Amino acid sequence: MPESYIGLMSGTSIDAIDAVLVDFTEQGAQLKASLSYPIDAGLKARLHRLCRAGAHASVDEYSQLDVNMGRLFADAVKQLLQQAVVDAKQIAAIGSHGQTVYHNPEGDTPTSLQIGDPNIIAEQTGITTVADFRRRDIAAGGQGAPLVPAFHQALLQQDDEARAIVNIGGIANVTLLPAKTDQAVLGFDTGPGNTLLDQWALRHIKQNMDKDAQFCRQGNSNTTLLQTLLADPYFSRPLPKSTGREYFNLDWLDGYLNDTSLSPADVQASLCELTATTIMDAINTYAPSSRRLIVCGGGVHNPALMDLLKNNKSAIAVDSSAQYGVDPDYLEGMAFAWLAYQTLHGKNGNLNSVTGAHSDRILGGIYPGERGL
Ligand SMILES: Nc1ncnc2c1ncn2[C@@H]1O[C@H](COP(=O)(O)OP(=O)(O)O)[C@@H](O)[C@H]1O
Ligand SMILES: [Mg+2]
Repeated sequence: MPESYIGLMSGTSIDAIDAVLVDFTEQGAQLKASLSYPIDAGLKARLHRLCRAGAHASVDEYSQLDVNMGRLFADAVKQLLQQAVVDAKQIAAIGSHGQTVYHNPEGDTPTSLQIGDPNIIAEQTGITTVADFRRRDIAAGGQGAPLVPAFHQALLQQDDEARAIVNIGGIANVTLLPAKTDQAVLGFDTGPGNTLLDQWALRHIKQNMDKDAQFCRQGNSNTTLLQTLLADPYFSRPLPKSTGREYFNLDWLDGYLNDTSLSPADVQASLCELTATTIMDAINTYAPSSRRLIVCGGGVHNPALMDLLKNNKSAIAVDSSAQYGVDPDYLEGMAFAWLAYQTLHGKNGNLNSVTGAHSDRILGGIYPGERGL
């Protein structure tokens, strides 16, 4: 009998909540239903303010947003169940990533904060909810991120070829899967995925994203700017590493923009190439035997970015995860459904070879639903 789980994901892009219903068996995972649940403009603006680097939000505002996001996650679950014509009683648990508002796993007080109160999700849906996955890994000495590589391994590892997976959300993260051997899986945030493209588009064309790369296509990537950006220390920092919008934002970019003769479209094209180059560099540096790159996340819909990845010099075959039967928009949501499954089965969710934790851990806090535990 398959066990049904729900995964909830809202990434650094703050574009929408991804909600998925997944059936798990010993053999694998099957996506049964999915939806993208909107976040209204007012709430989005407040979240963006809270996430801004160096933001000084009041505890009041922080707490209210925690409640508002908890309610929205619960609404997304209810709509998903209605759409799928599935009763809440049939769901074993929800895995909720939450909305990251701060991620800084370095230094004396490493932390990562996700909001969207899981008490509210459990109460309003009646379904046991697992949340707060990252902080256990951080408490165990890890980066708390990325957490999707263990699921990528479970779903996509092959014993006859090394594969790389990249999730291009606001931040891009790679998973480097060796052919099934005793070699460790590697994974890390390569740097910006779409976040700088989105932020630059908002500043210059007043759109939340550069839809279908139309703005980017009006310009040409500038080699000097690209090389300047690539020299940022994050890209050569040793593993493990993870990052967020606290680091990669327009203040970061403005600090490197000296050449005022560049048009905004030229900068956009350069940022697109920065994302593609840092992803390919990650593979060439840490897993040069990879001959296949599987792409998921919203970046798969950016044709200029996909062209750059496909035209790589290393003869790596690049395809959307759709070619492997996995919807690229919902793979990350599926990973959080899987992480809840792992937790309820008493199994570890992180890979310490990825996050740098002392060892693997059962992740998350459990908020019991109507049936208790
Ligand atoms: N048609 C498109 N053209 C260009 N970019 C797109 C398109 N569709 C989605 N994107 C990009 O994907 C992002 C959302 O990706 P997503 O994987 O949801 O990120 P996150 O995990 O950070 O929420 C958008 O903000 C946008 O940058
Ligand atoms: Mg998203």
